[in-house]
Amino acid sequence: MAPESPMPASLGALPGGFRFGTVTAAYQIEGAVAEDGRGPSIWDAYAAEPGRIADGSTASTAADHYHRVDEDIALLKDLGAPEYKFSISWPRVLPSGKGAVNAKGLDFYDRLVDKLVEAHIDPVVTLHHWDLPQALEDDGGWLNRSTVDAFAEYAGIVGERLADRVDAWVPIAEPAVMVFRGYATGEGAPGRRALFDALPAAHHSLLAHGRAVIELRRAGAQIVGCANNHSPMWPASDDPADVGATKLFDALWNGLFLEPMLLGRYPGDLAMLQEEFTHPGDLATIRQPLDFYGVNYYSPLRVGAADEDSDTPFRFVDVLGHRYTDAGWAVVPDALREWLVMTRARFRAAMPPIVITECGAAVAADPDENGVVDDQDRIDYLAAHIEAVAAAVDRGVDVRAFFAYTLLDSWEWAQGFLPQYGLVHVDQQTKERTKKRSFQWYADLVAAHRAQV
Ligand code: NOJ
Repeated sequence: MAPESPMPASLGALPGGFRFGTVTAAYQIEGAVAEDGRGPSIWDAYAAEPGRIADGSTASTAADHYHRVDEDIALLKDLGAPEYKFSISWPRVLPSGKGAVNAKGLDFYDRLVDKLVEAHIDPVVTLHHWDLPQALEDDGGWLNRSTVDAFAEYAGIVGERLADRVDAWVPIAEPAVMVFRGYATGEGAPGRRALFDALPAAHHSLLAHGRAVIELRRAGAQIVGCANNHSPMWPASDDPADVGATKLFDALWNGLFLEPMLLGRYPGDLAMLQEEFTHPGDLATIRQPLDFYGVNYYSPLRVGAADEDSDTPFRFVDVLGHRYTDAGWAVVPDALREWLVMTRARFRAAMPPIVITECGAAVAADPDENGVVDDQDRIDYLAAHIEAVAAAVDRGVDVRAFFAYTLLDSWEWAQGFLPQYGLVHVDQQTKERTKKRSFQWYADLVAAHRAQV
């Protein structure tokens, strides 16, 4: 352990049963987009459109995980974290989104689960991390209520095959980001800019969450939760227009998925808008009992009211007085503590135990002439955020686990390969893996935690 990389001082505040893990997403690491019967996804189509991806790359090979599963499991074993969360590619399992199952696709994940179990790593499975089958998008995608039925069918198929060995499940990763970037702003696949007309997609993805929870439990799943992104929202100024815009964006970003999942209702400001496409019984379906509430946290946001000529009501301003990651997100660990403490106070008994299902930083670092990848800023980021979690636990918030984002340098959606979030460096030409200093630091942290239990 390098002297400049101490363990978080309050690691000892975390309860003995606290678990550490890492997390990946299928489309960001697998590659092999045209192999073994996988169907096309909306991200294949989006990345093929000129100008959509910052560096002009595609994820056709990504980190080549599809062909390097054994190597990646060896890395996970070296890391020693007891949990690994990964996602399943819907178009690999159901190339048209519904109907005929692609046996080779399902077999791939079946083997992956077996290998993880053999390595004494608990698999945590996300059913959907944004790579919607293109065939469903051709019918309207998440704007079409029938996608909910397709998702329930897919959840049942995967659940039946894997629930006997999978520790825990998440139906959809960050539905807010998936819907807003994909359907409201067009910054992600499928690239629609429908603004507030994207709200039905939010409702349908919530309904899909609820239906999937039911299907997974029917298939024998024991632990089912969610993975919602959250950011504390701070107004750009105390001007009532900025305060109002912040309140609305908070409802959209933080409340729109959280409140229906936990309370079976939409946040006040949005309830009327959502009524239009909410059928009787939907909210009860969405509000399924959850075994954990997953929080993906990266950064707080500062929001102001947009100028008159803007087509959205919001503008985002710098979070002052803090460092930024390469992704342009402010590093404010205390905002994570703030969010956890505040949310527990607000939701109390309605809030199940919390799991930090993603947290990490974009920090560029390549191997030096000795092969050392010095990503001290990532170590600092992770250490400070684990401290923040421990501080929240100390205040009585029930947080059970922390998943560092991410194992491998990945294809970062519309930003291409540039932001590097991995504990492991991946050379994008050769796909060679090199452990970064953060990898060893996290491995030491996991071992230190285990030793004190
Ligand atoms: C959260 C998303 O789930 C993940 O796919 C993405 O790479 C990270 N945020 C970083 O942007």
